[in-house]
Amino acid sequence: MTDAPPSTVLADETAYSEAVQLAVDSSAAYYADGTSTLDDDAYDRLVRGIEAYEREHPDQVLPQSPTGKVAGGAVVGDVPHTVPMLSLDNVFGAEQLADWAASLERRIGRPVTAWCVEPKLDGLAISARYQRGRLIQLVTRGDGVAGEDVSHAMGTIVGLPDRLADAVTVELRGEVMMTAAQFEEACAKRQAHDGTTFANPRSAAAGTLRTRERPYVCELTFFGYGALPALDDTSELAEGLRTWPHGKVMGWVAAQGVQTTGATAVAGVVVATLEEVQSRVEEIAAARATLEFGIDGIVVKCDLATDQAVAGFSSRAPRWAVAYKLPATEKITKLLAVEWNTGRTGVIAPRAVLEPVELDGSIVTYATLHNVADIARRGLMLGDSVTVYKAGDVIPRVEAPVVHLRTGDEQPIAIPSVCPSCGDAIDTSQERWRCVRGRACRAITSISYAAGRDQLDIEGLADNRIQQMLDAGLISDFADLFYLTREQLLGLERMGAVSTDNLLTAFERAKAQPLSRVFCALGVRGTGRSMSRRIARHFATMQAIRDADALAIQQVEGIGPEKAPVVVAELEELAPLIDKLVAAGVNMTEPGVSGVSSPDSVAPSEELPLAGMSVVVTGAMSGPLEELSRNEVNALIERAGGRASSSVSTKTSLLVAGEKAGSKRSKAESLGIRIITPEEFATQVSAFL
Ligand code: IVH
Repeated sequence: MTDAPPSTVLADETAYSEAVQLAVDSSAAYYADGTSTLDDDAYDRLVRGIEAYEREHPDQVLPQSPTGKVAGGAVVGDVPHTVPMLSLDNVFGAEQLADWAASLERRIGRPVTAWCVEPKLDGLAISARYQRGRLIQLVTRGDGVAGEDVSHAMGTIVGLPDRLADAVTVELRGEVMMTAAQFEEACAKRQAHDGTTFANPRSAAAGTLRTRERPYVCELTFFGYGALPALDDTSELAEGLRTWPHGKVMGWVAAQGVQTTGATAVAGVVVATLEEVQSRVEEIAAARATLEFGIDGIVVKCDLATDQAVAGFSSRAPRWAVAYKLPATEKITKLLAVEWNTGRTGVIAPRAVLEPVELDGSIVTYATLHNVADIARRGLMLGDSVTVYKAGDVIPRVEAPVVHLRTGDEQPIAIPSVCPSCGDAIDTSQERWRCVRGRACRAITSISYAAGRDQLDIEGLADNRIQQMLDAGLISDFADLFYLTREQLLGLERMGAVSTDNLLTAFERAKAQPLSRVFCALGVRGTGRSMSRRIARHFATMQAIRDADALAIQQVEGIGPEKAPVVVAELEELAPLIDKLVAAGVNMTEPGVSGVSSPDSVAPSEELPLAGMSVVVTGAMSGPLEELSRNEVNALIERAGGRASSSVSTKTSLLVAGEKAGSKRSKAESLGIRIITPEEFATQVSAFL
């Protein structure tokens, strides 16, 4: 699926020894408190460069070289591990995974028929020692042989209980990390304390775990991935933990009240074939962006204890497991500037301008900064090195400044005191700042959006006309268009009788548009063309939409608990505009839909050719679909009973791929999703064209 990132090229011995020093320093900082100067990708490239150089020049290998060492040889501690805490070897794609599996099977001397596939959690390894069911000690991985006692963190780690369900003596191994919410909270606490912040959840977890005395307590999260009985324990349970398949061991761990990934969307599964391993890898990769915690790959393990025993260990890693690395989702780059824009709804949003950086397959130049409070919370400054996160289809975001990389030249970010669009005052009473004029501030943008091809489709209403009408005080929102008289229009400069009549006809036509378009024209946040269609279909009338509370809105496919209250609040705010539209005689119903979707009214749609299917369209359309805009193709999908979606995931049922289809096609291929041409698709839905 992915190739290994290219390695740093080391030209000579000096470059090699500098690279070794950089890797040693960086790894020491990474494992100490997460303050490495290199992001994961840069560190990986460096170590590969070092490895390549050492292969060519085995006589020049420096003793402090990080290659072949656990944690790059970074950390030592004084609590010996009962069994070494090792690293994992990496693979970077399906082919390398197959090579690894083949060599493993050769070593074992038989095919492996049970594989465990789990997310690779991006945190810090920890050993949690329980005696007769009580948590007595926490030890970091350290150099793998001995780690540091971090028992002071007991009681602050969600998922790692002080007591197990049974009074058993066992060592649990797993990863300590911060969820997105815990990270936010930790940053806010640190910000309030010393004005700085953590660069990312991983370094926040590392810093928090290793700091004994902090004036504030930050919560951490634990996910277990292994259990070891004491070496001399001969109890039935100890025998079980030594001989059960890994999946069963993890079931036991969860039953003890310890958190595992079992309850998450990326739960570990046991599968029989390498093809199934690969497809679970793809599923986990696809779910990555939606997770509340960071993963940087997938761990593939032999499930059976007998296979593990025969495969054994190298000095650095078990031979029975491998880490399938996923592309980095986070990089360090520079914050060059902050731009301020007022959106259609009057919200004033900052946007980061970055030194371009390649991230998860695309070049990121801009990233969201959410709002002013967010900038303050993160203590960002212009010129800061910042961590930028992007995975899958998510909008890239600036996570935090890398405080220890500051040079002293950083400048405060100028916060606007007036609306950047109209110069009027800013309403700062909420976290999301808004121009006091609200939607009226960007009236031209919202009216032009409402008149657009996918909304009311008012032909002949160019932006300069709208501006003219706004300037003349004839309109202040798009509902006012329907109250314009012939005389008023004729009174405008450069407006003849023919254009006036054409425009009036266009307004009349617009009034009869279906509810889905009228609703879309309102520009409710998060409801574009497809979502508006779904809402209109679900409720059938504007009145029903307005009567719906957040719970009722959530019944619409694709609207979750976060979006639903936003829709309700926006509709409340838009009430005067909607009332004006109703009074002007604008259609407020969806043709062909009888009422709020009930199991009965849903039934007929099950006979539609795309009923229950999630369809993604990519590439250039051809054949009967050639002339259709993407929106029109999406409308076609919905008419035929399907749901149009813009990104390929495990939920996708069908990909319509035209010429020049790119990453969506390869993703669908790897997920085994059915792919058809625009022509085939047109045949399938011809009745709805
Ligand atoms: S099993 C002998 N399972 O990855 C090591 N490790 O790069 C076997 N990790 O030190 C560990 N998620 O900290 C295992 N599901 C998982 C994991 C996992 C994250 C970490 C762990 C390990 C590191 C190796």
